[in-house]
Amino acid sequence: MTRGVFDRSTRFGGRRLHLGVCGSVACCKSAELLRSWRKLDIHVSATLTDAAQHFVKPLLFESLGAFPVYEGMFDFRTDVFAHLEPGSRADVFVLAPASADALSRLAQGAASDMLSAQVLAFDGPLILAPAMNPRMWGNKAAKANVDTLLERGAVLVGPDSGDVACGEAGQGRLAPLPEIFLAALRALAPQDMAGLHVLVTLGATREPWDGMRYWSNPSSGLMGAGLAVCAWLRGARVTAVCGSGCASLLPRAITACGVSRAREMFEAARDIWPQTDMGMFAAAVADFSPVEIGARKFKKSLAPEGLSIAFTPNPDILATLAATRRPSQKVLGFAAESAPDMQSLLALAREKRADKMADVLAANCINRQGSGFGSPTNAVAVTDVRGREETWPEQDKADIAWNLCSWLLTL
Ligand code: C5P
Repeated sequence: MTRGVFDRSTRFGGRRLHLGVCGSVACCKSAELLRSWRKLDIHVSATLTDAAQHFVKPLLFESLGAFPVYEGMFDFRTDVFAHLEPGSRADVFVLAPASADALSRLAQGAASDMLSAQVLAFDGPLILAPAMNPRMWGNKAAKANVDTLLERGAVLVGPDSGDVACGEAGQGRLAPLPEIFLAALRALAPQDMAGLHVLVTLGATREPWDGMRYWSNPSSGLMGAGLAVCAWLRGARVTAVCGSGCASLLPRAITACGVSRAREMFEAARDIWPQTDMGMFAAAVADFSPVEIGARKFKKSLAPEGLSIAFTPNPDILATLAATRRPSQKVLGFAAESAPDMQSLLALAREKRADKMADVLAANCINRQGSGFGSPTNAVAVTDVRGREETWPEQDKADIAWNLCSWLLTL
């Protein structure tokens, strides 16, 4: 699984997830999912159907930290009520991969095998990530089963379209693992941002000065992606305006609008802003754009003595949108600063919050290890419109995002 923005969050430690694994070539990928939830200290138990055990062994899941790992209905000797266990303990039940056969048994309310019985005895959030041959997925019988389960409140992740193991192509591939991973976290997260529409800007803008070169900065977009994913996990609808290359950090449930130049980011954010309840402006926007010296590649032979480029200012997205907001719209801004210590950083945050008319402003040092551009962690000084001020030591950007969302909800 590729590195995601929430794969080191501390927010989900101690929660309980039950993983159902059905027979499919894709069941080898379940082990990877198990590892990613275990990294967050989520307690994972698992059930492998008989069919799954033809592809993978319980020992693999046990070795990766799943406990207990259930097999057949009558193979589990230590607890005669094992078929009820996840139902009484798990906070979320994920079937990945969910086979056509399992979906059929679940839709019927069968209890003839361990997995079906466990699902029947579970009344929490159920997440289904199907994987099967495209003709099976397209069959009306499979569709009716899925519709029944959706009507009962199950959440469907995928399946995706593409090549499948049998050599055919079509819809039936297991969804990308980060989508399944995050769907489970959403089911575990408080839904305290439900009903809100949140705008997030993230990443770096690129300002071209000839046909192939541009002016930019090293922002990775991780802090903004952390905020966007966090708001979505907590129930918000999120629209993200993404600088170069960072839309791929977001799950598909977030509407991502990819832009390149600061002016494009401004126009996209300005158009969405009136429909939203909250703006989180985490993008590293170029304050100036070079005056382009042509649409073709500039030849260095034309400037043997060196090159001077003129710059024009860009609109300040945060300041402009904060100034035109409805009173109910909340605004979070950032500041990338060079400061000798956290108290000086806090002073800079205070000044910038007032200048930009943000409700909350988080400043981070670009001249500190474990903080700022490209780092998975950040250390910030935060201040708000009511005078609350805090400095937070280095922590994962997902945790910073979580705390900032909580802070905004108090205003
Ligand atoms: O003024 P400065 O660049 O330090 O401000 C940083 C904050 O302002 C960030 O929240 C950034 O996203 C936002 N900003 C903006 N448009 C600009 C410059 C900064 O939205 N042109």
